[in-house]
Amino acid sequence: MAKPKVRCELRFILNAEDVTLVDVAPDATLLDYLRLDRSLRGSKEGCAEGDCGACTVLVGRLSDGALVYESVNACIRFLGSLDGTHVVTIEHLSGRDGRLHPVQQAMVDFHGSQCGFCTPGFVMSLYALWMREPDPSDEAIEKALQGNLCRCTGYEAIVRAARSISGYGKAAKDPLAVERQSIAARLAALRDGSRVEIGAGDRRLVIPADVDDFARVLEQNPSATVVAGATDVGLWVTKFMREISPVVFIGGLDVLKSISEADGVLTVGAGVTYTEAQAALGRRIPALGALLDRIGGEQVRNMGTIGGNIANGSPIGDTPPPLIALGATLVLRKGRRRREIPLETYFVAYGKQDRRPGEFVEAVKVPLPSRGAKFAVYKVTKRRDEDITATLGAFHLQLAKDGTVKAIRIAYGGMAATPKRAAAVEAALLGRPWTEATVSEAMGAFATDFTPLTDMRASAEYRALAARNLLMRFYLETAGVKAPFTVKRHEAA
Ligand SMILES: Cc1cc2nc3c(=O)[nH]c(=O)nc-3n(C[C@H](O)[C@H](O)[C@H](O)COP(=O)(O)OP(=O)(O)OC[C@H]3O[C@@H](n4cnc5c(N)ncnc54)[C@H](O)[C@@H]3O)c2cc1C
Ligand code: FES
Ligand code: FES
Repeated sequence: MAKPKVRCELRFILNAEDVTLVDVAPDATLLDYLRLDRSLRGSKEGCAEGDCGACTVLVGRLSDGALVYESVNACIRFLGSLDGTHVVTIEHLSGRDGRLHPVQQAMVDFHGSQCGFCTPGFVMSLYALWMREPDPSDEAIEKALQGNLCRCTGYEAIVRAARSISGYGKAAKDPLAVERQSIAARLAALRDGSRVEIGAGDRRLVIPADVDDFARVLEQNPSATVVAGATDVGLWVTKFMREISPVVFIGGLDVLKSISEADGVLTVGAGVTYTEAQAALGRRIPALGALLDRIGGEQVRNMGTIGGNIANGSPIGDTPPPLIALGATLVLRKGRRRREIPLETYFVAYGKQDRRPGEFVEAVKVPLPSRGAKFAVYKVTKRRDEDITATLGAFHLQLAKDGTVKAIRIAYGGMAATPKRAAAVEAALLGRPWTEATVSEAMGAFATDFTPLTDMRASAEYRALAARNLLMRFYLETAGVKAPFTVKRHEAA
């Protein structure tokens, strides 16, 4: 592992301009940089925690040689994570002659804006969608706007505008599409294989050259703050004013973004975002795909990583319970040494994980459910979209030929200090006939497994009841019992 060249400046493209910065605080956010340093005040600060979308901008990056633009929350995106990217703000949209962009014109004509505070964020989210899908379905529009809040319009006008954008211009003729090759070439030229190091002491940031370099940097600086998507760490800064220096930014490390499949096991790199996971995990394990769609809004899914969701050790992280139910193992690395542990043993206690100083999460290995196995995951929240879990249950069942339970793994989030298996419930089901009577009886064992808490998301009683009912729901679905009704989400206006 030869030490790479070190560069002491951050380089990216902002709208049309090449930017080089030599003085970057490790906790500086992109939104502060845009508004305060560059007087680009179109992007707004509403919540400063990734919820409202008023700060939405696009970040373009090279992925396997292709230029991909994604919407992100500038309020929690650190400036230091932007090396080698193209940042596009609302100011870049209208033409030099002042003519509005098709997305903006549609918003005007369909009355998609009232006070206007949320509007730049909506425009940027719709812009990202339009470039990807010029004629989106209502479902795609709704999904693209999950992370944008408006308190004035009631949304219907915005959805109508979203349906009509292609009537105002062709996505293929948009400047970002036309200039794609030249922007990609400029971004490729910024990639010089260097490690970026800026500042010292309590103002130090490092962007490792590659994953081996990351291993070296973290081994030498075990107390550094690792930042992947910053959808947790961003809030430590904006809401809790925490000191995070030195920071190691790993969001751009390609190797951590790999997903491979061999012998029935998916190996997912720690840096794979929710959006990237959706394609592979969602295709192979559809129940996981549906869950990923309910994490945050699109901006959060474009930034937050599977590794971060595991590493943070949260009892209400959405991916650990289903991954535990699937029997996933975690690959941890320190320097050159790797070790693999069952994911469930990583979560030792509240705030305590089995991760040693200088060690990081490199990947998670996920066995695919075997043929005939039944797998489901249910997330219970106060509102459907962009809400944090009150209780989440994941179920993985294999039946024997005679209809008895051959193997079962059940894991919950929001029920204990860590994501946790329901061992007593599993024991009450194992070897028994998979019937409503068995399941009803086993529900009593939840009291042995969990003593949930009351907090702002749910009372202890609600959690206990919901957890029991999720098991019954799983049984009813596996038995082919249809739900009496389902809520239709995408109502046509
Ligand atoms: C608006 C909003 C909505 C959200 N909704 C949900 C939701 O519905 N469900 C849900 O589960 N979560 C939700 N989250 C939380 C968040 O998206 C996740 O916890 C996310 O997966 C964290 O990943 P990250 O890459 O952003 O981590 P970061 O914020 O970069 O890091 C999180 C923690 O993990 C550590 N870390 C990151 N990567 C590694 C690694 N490879 N090795 C070692 N340590 C590492 C960091 O040091 C830090 O301690 C939401 C967040 C926001 C802001
Ligand atoms: S200001 Fe609300 S998401 Fe950024
Ligand atoms: S137009 Fe006022 S918040 Fe959306």
